[in-house]
Formats: sequence, C-alpha cells, structure tokens
Amino acid sequence: MNTLEGSVIDIKQEEDKSGQADRLAKFEDVHGLKQADFEAFLKNIGPFCDPDGRPFTILDGMGGYGDVTSHILAEAGKQGVTPDIYIADESINQLNRGISSNTLPEDFPKDHLVLTDIRKTPFTDETFDTVVIKMGIHEVQLEEQTKILQEVFRVLKEGGKFVTWELAFSNKESQKIFQDIIRKKDEIAGFTQMVEKRWFPTEAEIFDSFEKAGFVDVSSPHTLEPTVNLRKREFELASIERSKIMHERGVVTPEEEVQLVELGKQRCSQLVAFTKQYMASVSKEMKEAMNYRETEDNVIFEPEKKIFVGYKQKPAIIADRGENQ
Ligand SMILES: C[S@@+](CC[C@H](N)C(=O)[O-])C[C@H]1O[C@@H](n2cnc3c(N)ncnc32)[C@H](O)[C@@H]1O
Repeated sequence: MNTLEGSVIDIKQEEDKSGQADRLAKFEDVHGLKQADFEAFLKNIGPFCDPDGRPFTILDGMGGYGDVTSHILAEAGKQGVTPDIYIADESINQLNRGISSNTLPEDFPKDHLVLTDIRKTPFTDETFDTVVIKMGIHEVQLEEQTKILQEVFRVLKEGGKFVTWELAFSNKESQKIFQDIIRKKDEIAGFTQMVEKRWFPTEAEIFDSFEKAGFVDVSSPHTLEPTVNLRKREFELASIERSKIMHERGVVTPEEEVQLVELGKQRCSQLVAFTKQYMASVSKEMKEAMNYRETEDNVIFEPEKKIFVGYKQKPAIIADRGENQ
C-alpha cells in the first residue's frame, strides 16, 4: 500500500526549524504519567487488528521520539499482533531521538518516521484504521487545533478511530493558570516558538474541535491523573545549552555537566518563585481544585487531562472493528 503521496524523508539530512528542536524532555516524566493512565490509553487505542486478524495501520501523530508507538508495539505484541505504525512529527530532532535513545525497536522502519506538520500530512485519504495523538493538540493555537482534527479525519478510513490524550480544563480560570505557568517555563528555557504557539484547551474546546471536524460518537472515557512537579523540569530548562554543546562537539564534558545541572536548578528556582507569587492571588477553592501544594523549593499540582475518542463513521460501523469482542 502506498500511504505517502510525497517521497519518504531522509530525516538525517534536514535542519530542525521546529519549536521543539532543542527541547530535551522525557515526556513520560515531565507529564507525570501514571501506569494506570497508559493502560487506559492503550485499551482505548485497541484493538490492534480487525476481527479477521489483519493488523491495523496506525498513525502516532505528533509522536515525538516514539514513546507512544513503543507502548503500542509492546501491548499489541502481547496479543500476537504487529500493527503497521507511522510516526509523524514536525521536529527531525525528536524523530531522530526515537532511534538514538532506543525508544523504538532497532528494526523500526525508518520510512515510517515522517517529518511533517500534522495539519497537512503527505498521507493519502483514508490510510489509517486508528490515529493517536498524545499531548500534541495543545502545541498549536486554538484556531489551528480544528485543522489538526480535520487532517486526522481525512487520513482515517471510514469507521476509523481517533484517540487523543490531552489537557481538558473544566473552566477558563484553571486553563489560564496552567497556561501562564507553562508559558513562563517555556520563556525561562528559551523556547520562544512554544511561548507563542501553544494553547492548552478546555474540555469544551476539545469537544468543539472534534465536532467541527465531523467526528461522531465522541466521548471522554477516561480522566487522567497527571502530576506537575516543577522540579522535574530542571533537565528540560537547560535543554538549549545542552543541545548546543551536543551539536558542536557531540559530547558533554563532566565540567559542563555540572554547569548544566546547576543552570537547570537555578532556572527551576526562578520558575518556582514565579509560580508561588502568581498563586498567591489565586483563591483557596481553586488551589484545592488543582490539588496545589508548595514546599520550600518546589510546587506540585494536578492539571485536568482526559482521553478523548471519536469515530469517522456511524456507530454501526464501529462494531466491525471488533471493539465489542
Ligand atoms: C509534548 S510532545 C509529545 C510527544 C509524544 N506524543 C509523547 O507524548 O511522547 C509534542 C510533539 O508535537 C510535535 N509538534 C508540535 N507541533 C507540531 C505540528 N504542527 N506538526 C507535527 N508535530 C508537531 C513536537 O515536535 C513534539 O514532538
């Protein structure tokens, strides 16, 4: 099957101009994910083959270094299935990290790493049985988020399923608080494009985007329990400086490592101080709703996130995927 209209991209040859080129973050750590949440995510993504055992073709959109893909492959493997998975991301560096960090299996086909803006991919119409995006939709401004869902809709087969793991604030106040704190983090780290481009959606905004793109039977079957622990951002906060050294010389010396660790700590202290000052004017009720806690040098809170599922066809067709088996 020819899934790509354009040619396959040689990701090593390209310069990374995306907003996440130099961002070094272990997403499973910074997003504070829990094992039970990942299990629920995989359950919603499955099945990985049709009732006749034909493996599904899956897109891991905005897939970064392939963490979601590696989990899908492991879970499907337990069921004796090997789905055909493509990872699409606009950052060559993130895609390359999938290989260099061994997150992806050694034999993962390189032509399934696709460098593309998720709003306009090279995939032909109706290519995928399932599309997955974890913590990606918020990477673009609100008005652009519907374009992501429209593109997902285009590349899904009739009866196909879209599963996303995303921020889902229940009100505008908690949305603003989270956005202001994370923007400050991006500003301190020097992630200029991320400061400008990101919008962390409310639950209503996500449902609205699903609806505008034409999805049916949309639901949010699982509420996630993430914890934001600002001290876990220290490594990420010195990403740009670390990446610069790696680009220039390929290795960080022990002295530089000490300096980078110290830089991350200092920047994190700056972020913690900003957050404490910001939160001083937030109501007690809101802090309780966010499960907001302060210690002498840290801040911890729990943003609202959910798993959302929508289908490209009528529910009657959904049964054909083997969902009810
Ligand atoms: C927070 S990371 C999540 C990565 C991965 N889904 C995970 O959870 O491990 C967001 C990813 O979206 C990518 N991204 C941002 N804007 C994009 C766009 N317009 N098109 C494709 N990828 C994009 C970034 O390069 C980054 O790898």
